[in-house]
Amino acid sequence: MQQPSDKSVSSRLKAFADSDRIAAAKPTATDADADYSMICRQLEGLIDGEKDRVANLANCSALLWQELTGINWVGFYLIKRNKLVLGPFQGKPACSRIEIGQGVCGTAAAISKTVIVADVHQFPGHIACDLTSKSEIVVPMLKDGQLIGVLDIDSPAVDRFDHRDQQGLEELLQVLILRL
Ligand code: SME
Repeated sequence: MQQPSDKSVSSRLKAFADSDRIAAAKPTATDADADYSMICRQLEGLIDGEKDRVANLANCSALLWQELTGINWVGFYLIKRNKLVLGPFQGKPACSRIEIGQGVCGTAAAISKTVIVADVHQFPGHIACDLTSKSEIVVPMLKDGQLIGVLDIDSPAVDRFDHRDQQGLEELLQVLILRL
């Protein structure tokens, strides 16, 4: 069998390394550092001129699903008759209703503050919708001082979310809430 020359192997490797395939496969420098200002601008473009709440929530969840790395669920729970009811989301099917005060979502809703859980197995009362989830961030949505729902994001990695995610997501929700 004819062996490829070192030269042809190295030139093929170089061609492969220069191709889009390897660029796409590389972990990005921003792996856990999403560019939230860019995501905010994208969201503004998506919801500009659209007043429908479901359409805007759906596009926001799809945008976060597209732009954030290392997540396995992103979506909204909306306040209906003093319960959190599942809204637009991306990921596996999830529980439809959560009581205020229950789980991570209900806790963030009860205190109207962002909750970051580094290891969901250590969070008393965590509601496991997807058994592969290991960390979670829940950001409350306040419109005119009233809680209207929460944004919930899960990750299969422990300790995926930090204060930069909190700040970026809280700013993103300010943009979204103007259109809800
Ligand atoms: N883990 C959440 C439940 C919702 S799912 O993660 C989509 C909680 O504890 O509230």
